[in-house]
Amino acid sequence: MSIKINNLSVFTTGEKKNIPFVLVHGFPFDHSMWDEQVKELSKQYYCITYDIRGMGESSAGDGQFTMESFVDDLEIIVDELELEKPVLCGLSMGGYISLRAVERMEAKFSTLILCDTKSDPDNSEGKLKRAAGIKMINEKGVEKFVRQFVPNCFSENFMADHKEEYKNVINRSQRNSPTGVKGCLLAMAGRTDTTPFLQKISIPTLIICGEKDKLTPPAVMKLMADNIINSEFIIVSGAGHMIPIESPYIFNQTIKDFLMR
Ligand code: MLT
Repeated sequence: MSIKINNLSVFTTGEKKNIPFVLVHGFPFDHSMWDEQVKELSKQYYCITYDIRGMGESSAGDGQFTMESFVDDLEIIVDELELEKPVLCGLSMGGYISLRAVERMEAKFSTLILCDTKSDPDNSEGKLKRAAGIKMINEKGVEKFVRQFVPNCFSENFMADHKEEYKNVINRSQRNSPTGVKGCLLAMAGRTDTTPFLQKISIPTLIICGEKDKLTPPAVMKLMADNIINSEFIIVSGAGHMIPIESPYIFNQTIKDFLMR
């Protein structure tokens, strides 16, 4: 079912009586990056995906987003849908949102799943890359930005062996509004450091990383896992930054096994 909450496009799949499971997508993608997860997990869970403000079908408005406003949006969705302690799963930018959400209101969630993400904020080099991205969008358009950014998100093997699927992801990302994409870049550049909070996380946490992830490599995620007491760390061999799309079967199975324990 597709509904609007606070001007965001929200999608619910599965039976409402089941345990709720909220999935927060990465950048510059939209809720559809979770299609393979929703298909499988909705057999057992009440799955909620949504387009982060400015992405997909959620309108960009004035594009003045912050990580806090993204967390506000997530909170509104959880409250409006009356979700009772959902599992919260975020990939990369979705992971930044999830980590900050748990820092702000851990009691609202039962379990945290962090995929290909990190707790550190952007350093100076990272901030300059965001600035260069905004300049590129202004001068050459969002299509060019996506063509340059997205190849870093996938393993070489996936791009070579799944050309059609990869092209679809690129096409979808290129449809995002320039205002929305720039707004996300600024929000990510301005996010806080959630590293000092890691040691305080008490809900069960699963950390999943693609072996070939260039953006948030296994060494970075392992450090994060070492800091979270109640955590489990899994590396998915051969996958890049986008495990849910690249290795959906392994990803889904890893999550189902973790939640069964
Ligand atoms: C993502 O996949 O969400 C992005 O790579 C995150 C980022 O650019 O920091």
